[in-house]
Amino acid sequence: MTSELIQALEALEQEARTAIPATTTAAELEQARIRFLGRKEGRLTLIMRRLGELKPEEKPAVGAVSNRVKNAITELLDAREAEVATAQRRSSGADLTLPARRRWQGALHPVTRIVDEICEVLKELGFTRARGPEAETDWYNFTALNTSLDHPAADMHDTFYLAPGILLRSHTSPVQIRTMQKYQPPVRIVAPGMVYRRDPFDASHAPGFEQLEGLAVDEGITFVDLRATIAEFARRMFGSQAEVRFRPSYFPFTEPSAEVDVSCTVCDRIGCSACKGTGWIEIMGAGMVHPLVLEQAGYDAERYTGFAFGMGPGRIAMLRYQIPDIRLLYESDVRFLQQFAL
Ligand code: DAH
Repeated sequence: MTSELIQALEALEQEARTAIPATTTAAELEQARIRFLGRKEGRLTLIMRRLGELKPEEKPAVGAVSNRVKNAITELLDAREAEVATAQRRSSGADLTLPARRRWQGALHPVTRIVDEICEVLKELGFTRARGPEAETDWYNFTALNTSLDHPAADMHDTFYLAPGILLRSHTSPVQIRTMQKYQPPVRIVAPGMVYRRDPFDASHAPGFEQLEGLAVDEGITFVDLRATIAEFARRMFGSQAEVRFRPSYFPFTEPSAEVDVSCTVCDRIGCSACKGTGWIEIMGAGMVHPLVLEQAGYDAERYTGFAFGMGPGRIAMLRYQIPDIRLLYESDVRFLQQFAL
């Protein structure tokens, strides 16, 4: 009797060893589990029901074999379950082992960040944020800024005209005029915004780009105030070791005019690719507001003087984040923008 039951158990194990690996779906596997190990009608249960027919001293040996066979069948079932699941995943084409996609979180554009940073620094120096329209009249964009309409900058080839006398502003300087028309001195404003020019779209030019204008007018403002303000701005923006240098230049709306360079903080003035080996990086145009400009805006040019400056936050963003091509800033490629997500 004992040996008969043990034989039946071993035969069951053999049967399971061929039947279970032959299953191909989860449903077939579940049927096999019920057939071999089902509690009521399972084959193992049916054999073990006959345990009662044994003498007490015969039971342990059969019980031991029964446990071993049960474990062996359970292992077979579990192993096959993993195989069937993998096979099904492969055939469905989905790789369920891939990590979940992270949700795309919005973030500020690098140029917006730099604009905010510049405005924050200038706010501490007493400048208020201002803005003006992107569609301007040629009077605000050129004439009031002491730029005659036969100046090359006013040419159809260089400017986007929307209608006769109306154009997409080619710089943020018209905000100077709008501010002075609206407020009496002292004024200190910083005006960021988009400007438009008929430039090619290449690595260093874009037909639309961000610019930022500064203006300070009061009694007794001199070039010293301009220089001190820009030097302090450069230190706060680029670090305490940053120095500025002014080179003589020309703009119709300032007299005298200057190009402002900041010492290259990448190489500490040794010369590198960021400063093209010169140790200096040009960051803005600036100067003392031309008396004719003050008068066009309705100010008394005998009483008031002022300084102005204009810079490209995009260029500063390119330096700060080592962005080699300006087009990356003005195309909405999400792979580029994602790098700036927090
Ligand atoms: N408007 C000039 C440009 O677009 C930049 C500029 C230069 C602005 C000197 C200023 C300035 O206010 O003083 O090229």
